[in-house]
This record gives sequence, structure tokens and C-alpha cells, in this order.
Amino acid sequence: MRPGNPWPEAEYLVGFRDEVRVEFDATSVSLRTPVRTFAVRLGEGRLRAALASLVGGLVPMDEALRDLVPAERVQFQRLLSRLNRLLVYGVPIGGRELVRIEHTAPDAEATAVRVGPDDLVRLSRFALCRSRSGALVLESPLAKVRVVLVESVARELVTSLAEARGVDELAASLAGDLKAAEVRTLLGVLAGAGFVEVRAAGEKFAAEDTVLQQWDFHDLLFHSRVRGGRFDEPLGGVFPHKGRIDPRPAVKPVPEGPSVELYRPSLEDVVREDPGLTAALEGRRSFRGYGERPLTAEQLGEFLYRVGRVRTRYVPEPEDEPGSEIVSRPYPTGGSAFELELYLTIRRCAGVEPGSYYYDPVGHRLVLVNDDPGDRRAMLDVAAVSTSREADPEVLITMTSRFQRLSWKYSGMAYATTLRHTGVLYQTMYLVATAMGLAPCGIGIGDADMSARVLGLDYLEESSVGDFLLGSRPPGDPGIWDREQGWEWVNDPEWAAWAGRTLGRT
Ligand SMILES: Cc1cc2nc3c(=O)[nH]c(=O)nc-3n(C[C@H](O)[C@H](O)[C@H](O)COP(=O)(O)O)c2cc1C
Repeated sequence: MRPGNPWPEAEYLVGFRDEVRVEFDATSVSLRTPVRTFAVRLGEGRLRAALASLVGGLVPMDEALRDLVPAERVQFQRLLSRLNRLLVYGVPIGGRELVRIEHTAPDAEATAVRVGPDDLVRLSRFALCRSRSGALVLESPLAKVRVVLVESVARELVTSLAEARGVDELAASLAGDLKAAEVRTLLGVLAGAGFVEVRAAGEKFAAEDTVLQQWDFHDLLFHSRVRGGRFDEPLGGVFPHKGRIDPRPAVKPVPEGPSVELYRPSLEDVVREDPGLTAALEGRRSFRGYGERPLTAEQLGEFLYRVGRVRTRYVPEPEDEPGSEIVSRPYPTGGSAFELELYLTIRRCAGVEPGSYYYDPVGHRLVLVNDDPGDRRAMLDVAAVSTSREADPEVLITMTSRFQRLSWKYSGMAYATTLRHTGVLYQTMYLVATAMGLAPCGIGIGDADMSARVLGLDYLEESSVGDFLLGSRPPGDPGIWDREQGWEWVNDPEWAAWAGRTLGRT
């Protein structure tokens, strides 16, 4: 929004947001938010007085501009544009401030649209209402502003828009004394900001284009929040809970239960047998069928050792900041958080009894957490269904995240980060399994509630974010170079053939 008046019918107000602390010294102004500080060079004078008038409550824009000469007005408006994510704009309609607008993107431009008495209006399917800092706000991943619903009539209006309504009929149905023209002005502000859709009587609502149709509400919301751009809440390693909540340990305390020591491969054996990175990459493929002979405890031990063990641990010095305890495992994670844990639900593995186990990445052992056959079947069944029942899984690996390990440090992006880590772990498992001549398959749909229950976890503290199948490779499997008809080779088919030979599949 240009800090001129975007909705002609409203004399808007402007002020700093409550969370912004403003301090003046001889030559500059410092603006402090809970996570950042901005400094603006601005000595004594009329401009500075105008800026100071925005502290401590909203003032009519005209009043803030009153003492400025035309050139200063332009300067002041430029300054407000730069500071727009620190400001809030009040929209008084009919003499009352019904809503406030906060810009959530630096390039936000709110413009009101004209809404006629016979138009139809409805809430966008991407709009969401939530409580934020004690106020009800309207947000949307399609909007670059947030609307604070200050007056009850604004809240009532928004909750009346689930289905398309005629504007005048809607205005008449609202409690309170807002005139129909004022309701239209408010609708125009909400529509201009992207929260309300408007169509003329007798016309259809503008159809979502084929791009928007293919966005789920929660996906677009997530996308808009986990990367910078159009949202104004803290994003990144800002340690939002430091000093109030203890960080989670780098290594999860091992649950109680009978344990199975796992085989530890020798480095010499692994290096001797290793087909190399290029063979593993080029020969990697998903398998949903298994050999007659099951996966062995030795293979499982080697796989877990190479994929998921803790290999070093940084023990913090007393003077280190809290949260400095980190570990290292064979795959990378942001901030060395290593919040992911592995659980194995075993149907068939020579040398390990069926059951659901926690993998202790320090002790390199399995700890039984559930031996109920019904629970085991239910877990394996979800995975089998995800392969359209092509696979009858030998071993299901459930990746869980200890969410607070990340969210203690990262604001706004903790969950996105854990999903990225999950992807990193998928590929690490694929490559190690391929190098070992096993049958890997990533799984895209798991039941986080079921796995929390079966594995004895609190859904909010630790639950599943990914699943993976591992088994013995069927003998004589043709491999990637002999796919079903219909596949065309693009770029060097001999690489795959070479990888197949190197992996001993031909
Ligand atoms: C994150 C992820 C999720 C997957 N989900 C499933 C799944 O639910 N069911 C399945 O049968 N295969 C699944 N796969 C395997 C893919 O179908 C497979 O990787 C893809 O078809 C390419 O074939 P390829 O792995 O043999 O090269 C998944 C793979 C990944 C990486």
C-alpha cells in the first residue's frame, strides 16, 4: 500500500505496532521489534516530530502530515513505506475504527475495491481467522496484509461470509448500526486485500485459475510461512524460547525395554564390499518385493550403523550457550539438530523377533517398545496400502521428529526443516540400502496418530514424519535398466547398465 489513502471513503489512521519500541537519539531513531532492530538516520526536525507522533497510538494520517511541507510529505511517505511492516493502519468507517491493517510483506499494496449493493460476496477459501496477540485476525497466504478485526461488526461480517451472500441482504442481517454503504466500504477493503471475493449479480465468481485450483489451503499457507516474503513473523534461528524453556537434549533418552545388540560392521569390510557412490546413485531404485530369504540381523545392523548412528557428540563447556549440545550422524541436518529418530516395525528379519523397536543411535541397539501383533500388523498395513499392496513389508522404518529440538531454535520454519531432514534421510537410506544390495522403498503416507500410539510417543512432542521399507532383495531382479515397456532412455543408458553390473544384479 502506498501510504496515501487506498480506500477513498475512509480517513485512515497510522501508528507503530504495539510490539515496536521506538527510541530517539540526537541523530537517529531506533526501532526495535522482539527479533530485530532498525536504525533510521533522522535528526531533530519536522520529519522526526511526524514520526514521533506515530508512537503510543494511532493518529489520523492527515494529522501526522499536517506540519510537513510538500517535499517533507513525500519523504515521510517514503519512510513509512520502508517501515511498513512495523506500522499498523486503522480503517475508520462511519466514524469507528472497524479494522486495522498490518502489512506482512514489504511490497504489500492494499487497495479497496468498489462493492455494489447488488453484488455477491464470499470469503476466499484461503482466508483464515485466528487469535493473535489478543485480537481476532484475518490472514491468507494470498494476501500480503493482515486484517485485525477490531469491532464486533467486522467479526460478524467475516463469519457471515462462508457462502455467497447478496451485499445488501448481508448488510441488513448484521447486528449493530452500520449503514449499508459502510458495510460495502468494509467489504471493499477486505476484497481489495484479497480476503473476500466479489461478483456482480448475474455473473459467476471468477474461477480459480488452474494453478490456484491445485493448491491445498494448508499447503499454500505452509509455503507462505516457511520462506521469507509475504509474512512478517520471525523466521529463522532466533531462539524464541531461550531462557524460558530448556532445550531438548541432542540424544533422546532411551526408552525402557528389552534390547537387542546390533551387529557393528567393520570399516574394512564395508570399504571392501562397497560398490561406490556412482553405482549406488545410478543403480538405485525402489523395490516392493523381497527375496525368499529374509533380511538378516547382520544386514539390519550394518544398515542402521551406516545410516543413522551417532558418530560424534559435542559436549558443551560450562560457558557455552544452552542448546549447544549437538551430535553428528552420517547424514546432514540444519544446525546439527538431529531431531529425527528411527523406529523399526519388524515382520520378518532373521535374528530379530517381530515387534516395534526404537533404534538407539548411541548404543547401536534395538529397544523393544511394542510387541503386540495387532499393532504391528496395523503399522505394516498402512505402509502396504501406500504401495497399493504391492509390498508385504519385511521391515518398516518409521522416522519420527522430536519437534521441540528444532522449534526451540527456529521460528516459523521448524517443521519445514524437519521435513527437509526427512528427505535427506530417505536418500541416505536409499543409497546405503542400494550399496548393500538390499530392497529399499520410500513411503509417502503414514499414520502419525497410529505410530505415536504404537511407539508410545506423545503426538505433539515426537511423531512420525516419514516411512521407509527395507527388505531382502529378490534374486535376479532385473534392475533399472530393464524396465517395463514404455520407458525411453534419455541420457546415457549405459550408466544404469554399468551400475546394475557393478551392483551384481545381472
Ligand atoms: C518421499 C518418497 C515417498 C514415496 N512414497 C511412496 C509410496 O507411498 N508408495 C510407493 O510404492 N513408493 C513410494 N516412493 C517410491 C517412489 O514411487 C519411487 O522413488 C519413484 O517411483 C521412482 O522410482 P525409483 O525409486 O525406482 O527410481 C516414494 C519415494 C519417495 C522419495
